[in-house]
Amino acid sequence: MTKVFASLGVSLDGFVAGPNARPGNPLGDGGTRIHRWMYDVGAWRERLGMSGGTTNVSGEVVEANFARAGAYVMGRRMFDEGEAGWPDPPPFRAPVFVVTHTPREPWARQGGTTFTFVTEGIEHALALAGAAAGDKDVQIAGGADTVRQFLNAGLVDDLEIHLAPLVLGGGVRLFDGVDTDLELEPDRVVDAREVTHVRYRVIR
Ligand SMILES: NC(=O)c1ccc[n+]([C@@H]2O[C@H](COP(=O)([O-])OP(=O)(O)OC[C@H]3O[C@@H](n4cnc5c(N)ncnc54)[C@H](OP(=O)(O)O)[C@@H]3O)[C@@H](O)[C@H]2O)c1
Repeated sequence: MTKVFASLGVSLDGFVAGPNARPGNPLGDGGTRIHRWMYDVGAWRERLGMSGGTTNVSGEVVEANFARAGAYVMGRRMFDEGEAGWPDPPPFRAPVFVVTHTPREPWARQGGTTFTFVTEGIEHALALAGAAAGDKDVQIAGGADTVRQFLNAGLVDDLEIHLAPLVLGGGVRLFDGVDTDLELEPDRVVDAREVTHVRYRVIR
């Protein structure tokens, strides 16, 4: 494992999901608009088993993130929504470690994605993901609660925000509970028309 990164779509007012997020209402009320920039991107469509789509700078960002991720860690609430909605094969095509307090047998899907449920906390999940990722990076996929814990534990190297030009007004905030001594150094900004991709290096 070389690096640990998180990469999330965020509304201008700081939400990664709208209110009432649950399986059947993924990303909450109005929350799918956070990812609107992504739905027509060819690199994203390909991961969902669809052809076509656009090739643009946002596509390069999506492709680069998928390419660097050798394994993923996610929270159980993100997983619950995805279990109901992701296709088979799911978009990850790499091992996924789900942090939860409820033990469950691993769930193997097509395309190299097996969901392994980890009840021993974030550091154990990261150790498993790091071993699975080999010389690639580990992506902390979300949601907010899980990313917050990784940030507060000083375990994240890069944080990428895909800032969507919309106001959600409520829902799941990314930075609630994140330590205020978190120090970030801007590393790269990609200015796509419909979204701004901002990557920060976390300074320890
Ligand atoms: N905008 C984006 O890019 C983006 C990306 C990802 C997700 N999301 C959205 O974010 C929302 C989910 O975020 P969230 O903050 O509500 O939840 P989350 O981080 O996805 O999941 C939280 C859950 O994970 C488990 N968990 C977390 N830390 C744990 C630990 N240390 N030990 C054991 N279990 C642990 C707990 O599940 P148990 O209850 O099983 O204990 C906890 O309730 C969803 O709506 C999803 O669609 C958005």
